[in-house]
Amino acid sequence: MPAADPIPTTVPVHPHPTTEAETMYQARLSLQPQRAVGPINPRLFGSFIEHLGRAVYDGIYEPGHPTADALGFRQDVVELVKELGVTTIRYPGGNFVSGFRWEDSVGPVEDRPTRLDLAWHSTETNEVGLHEFQQWIDQVDGELMLAVNLGTRGTMEALELLEYTNLAAGTALARRRIENGRVEPFDVRIWCLGNEMDGPWQLGHRSADDYGKLAAQTGRAMKAFDPTLELVACGSSSSSMPTFGTWERTVLRHSYDCVDYISCHAYYENKGDLASFLASGVDMDRFILEVTAAADEIKAEIGSDKTVNISFDEWNVWYNTRFENVDKITGVDNWPVAPRLLEDVYSVADAVVVGGLLISLLRHADRVTSASLAQLVNVIAPIMTEPGGPAWRQTTFFPFAEAARFGRGVSLDVELKSDSYETTEYGAVGVIDAAASFEESDGSYTVFAVNRDPSGIAALVIDLPVGDFEVTASTLHDSDVEAANTLAEPHRVQPAPNVTAQIDGSTLTVELPPVSWSHLRLTPRGSLSA
Ligand code: AHR
Repeated sequence: MPAADPIPTTVPVHPHPTTEAETMYQARLSLQPQRAVGPINPRLFGSFIEHLGRAVYDGIYEPGHPTADALGFRQDVVELVKELGVTTIRYPGGNFVSGFRWEDSVGPVEDRPTRLDLAWHSTETNEVGLHEFQQWIDQVDGELMLAVNLGTRGTMEALELLEYTNLAAGTALARRRIENGRVEPFDVRIWCLGNEMDGPWQLGHRSADDYGKLAAQTGRAMKAFDPTLELVACGSSSSSMPTFGTWERTVLRHSYDCVDYISCHAYYENKGDLASFLASGVDMDRFILEVTAAADEIKAEIGSDKTVNISFDEWNVWYNTRFENVDKITGVDNWPVAPRLLEDVYSVADAVVVGGLLISLLRHADRVTSASLAQLVNVIAPIMTEPGGPAWRQTTFFPFAEAARFGRGVSLDVELKSDSYETTEYGAVGVIDAAASFEESDGSYTVFAVNRDPSGIAALVIDLPVGDFEVTASTLHDSDVEAANTLAEPHRVQPAPNVTAQIDGSTLTVELPPVSWSHLRLTPRGSLSA
């Protein structure tokens, strides 16, 4: 069976010519295992598959593709998803879920109804449903994060879905699941109580009060079934929503006792101001701090012992302006199946922004304990496919895969000091942004760093912890910040070893080229874990 296209081994090697940029910035950080932010929850590296565009059909599922298995799942895509290292996978939406009847997606495929999907102006065949998706999740070693429809449906339908998925036996719904081929319960642990209910575009959009009451009623009922479930209440669909802040407080006032997370969603795009775009992590940091403050305020107000954390369950670069103005599907007789929608082609600059957002998430690992890169395949995705053809890695694949692989153990406060550069949107921001992880089991450290300046090289100095370390460093950079991987040129952009990384006594120095993402692995000398 054909495998996913491997990354060529003959990758270009640094260093970059120092003439490429005029400025040489300075930055310094320190690695101290005792300065832990908190444990990194593996769910920080979750992703998201929505019934949208070609995410499912002609994405993960393409019967007849040379790599498809008996279930119709492309094994080249499975391999890439595993290489990416995603943990939880949120499903089935997104905006889609607010018009979705879960019952349509179970039972014999030939009996499943074809329905309109009003969110994306498409046709949903229901050929892939809950059971098939769980089979795919098992293939990629993921965990299902399921969203219930609180837009056009309510508490009863959510409870019925929960009983169908999680009750072992003994009721009509459990029996139906067993008859549909799944004896063991799905045992879904983490649930989203609707999607973006603050957004006027959402089917069944509600006020914060109305949604808060519905989320509380549904959450309490779900916890009556199983108090160990983890429930996510919808926060704001962006920090620029007019209701941002009051939405979180109102929703949590109603539901604090029965929810475990409040969600954040954030998308960024380059609108022609590269310097500000590269600093998008500044916005994500603020967003996280403000939502954390709102949650803690309600905790104090109601005198709760419980802490509600953040599920950052949609984040990415998304050229939404292009979608809104060019690609949106319209027409009362025009409802395509699996159209090419939201198929953004990601550049080096986009990958550096994704890297910066991963750094923000890691920096706040104490409070962001679940997150989903939106999305996974074809739709604003790190993995692209061509029907009958190959699957390939977009530029954004690399920072995510490296962070998911090495961002384990605890997140460290690195006490970063960096020269700054000017941005229109955020004022002066650090040229270098960085986070680090420490794995106690093997004594290894990983530093993740972005150089966000559009033109200057930065010299990063790292004060090392006590020990004798070996370093390996890798950098994603291209002199053309718009360079991308495409069907025609799938390996145009690759990370490459950064040979400027040198340890001298208790410090490590490395040069980071402009608009770059890097990771540096420090492993105790002689260990096998590099
Ligand atoms: O990820 C694409 C869309 O972005 C999701 O369906 C929605 O929740 C958000 O607005």
